[in-house]
Amino acid sequence: MQKSQLSVDALPQHIAIIMDGNGRWAKAQGKPRVFGHKNGVAAVRKTISTATRLGIKAVTLFAFSSENWRRPEEEVGVLMELFITVLSTEVKRLHKNNLRLRIIGDKSRFSSRLQKKIAEAEAKTAQNTGMVINIAANYGGKWDITQAMSALAQKVESGELSSGDINEELITQHLTMSDIPEVDLLIRTSGECRISNFMLWQLAYAEMYFTPIYWPEFGEDSLVEAVTWFVNRERRFGCTGEQIKALMDNQ
Ligand code: IPE
Ligand code: IPE
Ligand code: MG
Repeated sequence: MQKSQLSVDALPQHIAIIMDGNGRWAKAQGKPRVFGHKNGVAAVRKTISTATRLGIKAVTLFAFSSENWRRPEEEVGVLMELFITVLSTEVKRLHKNNLRLRIIGDKSRFSSRLQKKIAEAEAKTAQNTGMVINIAANYGGKWDITQAMSALAQKVESGELSSGDINEELITQHLTMSDIPEVDLLIRTSGECRISNFMLWQLAYAEMYFTPIYWPEFGEDSLVEAVTWFVNRERRFGCTGEQIKALMDNQ
């Protein structure tokens, strides 16, 4: 394939990532699991910067699932602290780069301190027109569908809608992320091949890419490799990582 034949239209618009394997990565080096979580932050930075340079429209990162509360209290505590710290340190840079940050999930279970940080970060970047970054925190695909159903039921109860009005389009509109395209490419690191209650509805037609590397090792080349795989899956055979890289910063 000629370089000129590959256009940005071939790239996925919305990439979702299950960032997995922090604990195993740390353990392999004889370190505590939280060491892996701390090092996972650098991989998040690299992913955001690479996706931005590729001109991707939206990236959704699974940071904490609704099931992750079952982990040891100490690990959950460290993750929450890390979340607060990262929000404080990164938001300025995201804002400077015109990126929009949103936290997707049931935020009501977070401490009021964390909820305040989230609200500030979202408000600061709300008007930005660049890539949308969704951080899924206390998120579950089943929760997302349930909250949409509950909002629809309330509208039926109040007479705003009748039950016969409910269709796929209306359900989609009540899910989180209803304003951005559905996921084209799902990436999961660490060799696990399951969805773990991440987005369910929005993954209906996603291509799924599983890589054995652990999340803290994920970087620019890993994302380029996944995107190259995606473009070739979409029957644009023969595209190379170099061609994908050539699209960077070329928007
Ligand atoms: C992913 O890494 C990060 C979170 C779920 C917060 P893990 O903590 O699941 O690491 P492994 O899967 O135990 O190696
Ligand atoms: C899924 O990873 C959730 C996140 C990456 C935040 P887990 O490591 O928690 O998933 P399971 O429990 O192995 O399925
Ligand atoms: Mg895991």
